[in-house]
Amino acid sequence: MAETKKTATLSIDGKSYDMPVLTPTAGPEVIDIRKLYAQADVFTYDPGFTSTAACDSSITYIDGDLGELLYRGYPIEQLADKSHHLEVCYLLLYGELPDAAQMRDFENRVTRHTMVHEQMHNFFRGFRRDSHPMATMVGVVGAMSAFYHDSLDINDPWQREVAAIRMIAKLPTIAAMAYKYSIGQPFVYPKNSLSYAGNFLHMCFAVPCEDYVVRPELERAMDRIMMLHADHEQNASTSTVRLAGSSGANPFACIAAGIACLWGPAHGGANQACLEMLREIGSVENIPEAIRRAKDKNDPYRLMGFGHRVYKNFDPRAKVMKESADEVLDLLGVHDNPLLQVAKELERIALEDPYFIEKKLYPNVDFYSGIILEAMGFPTSMFTPIFALSRTVGWISQWKEMIGDPQQKIGRPRQLYVGPTRRDYLDVEAR
Ligand code: CMC
Repeated sequence: MAETKKTATLSIDGKSYDMPVLTPTAGPEVIDIRKLYAQADVFTYDPGFTSTAACDSSITYIDGDLGELLYRGYPIEQLADKSHHLEVCYLLLYGELPDAAQMRDFENRVTRHTMVHEQMHNFFRGFRRDSHPMATMVGVVGAMSAFYHDSLDINDPWQREVAAIRMIAKLPTIAAMAYKYSIGQPFVYPKNSLSYAGNFLHMCFAVPCEDYVVRPELERAMDRIMMLHADHEQNASTSTVRLAGSSGANPFACIAAGIACLWGPAHGGANQACLEMLREIGSVENIPEAIRRAKDKNDPYRLMGFGHRVYKNFDPRAKVMKESADEVLDLLGVHDNPLLQVAKELERIALEDPYFIEKKLYPNVDFYSGIILEAMGFPTSMFTPIFALSRTVGWISQWKEMIGDPQQKIGRPRQLYVGPTRRDYLDVEAR
């Protein structure tokens, strides 16, 4: 981050305050307001952080107007085409693509951590069978801090590293266990001869009484879904992880906070909500009514899987996801999936509608992912857990970046207070 020679000047009641302008390697310049309160005794007001950079970061970059997403500089389309999830994990965590030996070592380290402490099984059994797997995951991931005491010291870089590897390795196991528990099937232990994605499919779909063979094409599709969700700069759940981590909370507690935030339908919960919406629409004749409702200001109904705070163009992840949806359904011999038909037609109609054009609302990553996951055999309740396990590497990379930053401070937003001013307590008889 370089300081330019430019300054921004703010004028309040005839007094001027100069603030440095910082230049990122890509994206708009940033006005450094850190000293503003000390100098001018004012705060800035930006609910939703629409114009505020809360940190500097060198992990992921989004150009919302171009519809571009880069992980450490590499375009998501190239990674989705040529890379694989564990390589992307390495890239996000360490900043560079690994050579062959580094990749083998990393794979080995992740693979050796895929099992969870046997006593954690008891945690799962404490949940109701019909618990949403996200609810189970928030609890169980938070509980990891009660099991892995040797990776809780955030001031020790080695422990931070171990915590990162544990989380990347164990989240698929925990998500699969949450699923198995919810359907009353026995937990399936990880199988280290399988790939990261293949192992996850195995833990979800294998049963002790018969062999389960992972189909390579589905394994590849799963792996792509993981890569596409791996990081997305300072989104709500990542910012939650950073804010929780800024107080010095342990990494497992921080990731549990991130999972809780991701669950909301405006964020990662949109993939489940989107498939439910497509099911509710049911057939192409009902699309105009859905569009009408989405445009009605008095109706809270929104097209799920549409719109994004940053993308004002196609979400590049949605393009890859749409291709994958076609491939997976083709492979599974599903040629007239009604949900895919509804989704494609809904996208076509919405993209021609002045409301969506003016507001620059395009399909996002969640629009097609549910169709693929459903075709693979996942129930809707597993869509957001799959998002969570895929995003774990992004959360932990951003957390590590923050903790390693010597300028790191506890996150502490200010407020525009609009409540009552000082008043005196009245005894109950006097109220
Ligand atoms: N359907 C209909 N109208 C919409 C939609 C939508 N999906 N999204 C935004 N709008 C309208 C909104 O009503 C507002 O209109 P107006 O200016 O007249 O008040 C305008 O577009 C701007 O919307 P906003 O809510 O102020 O924008 P935001 O940046 O705060 O919200 C969003 C972004 C993703 C939360 C929102 O677009 C949304 O709710 N989309 C549906 C949920 C969804 O698909 N979420 C997944 C996001 S991608 C994956 C992830 O981040 O987890």
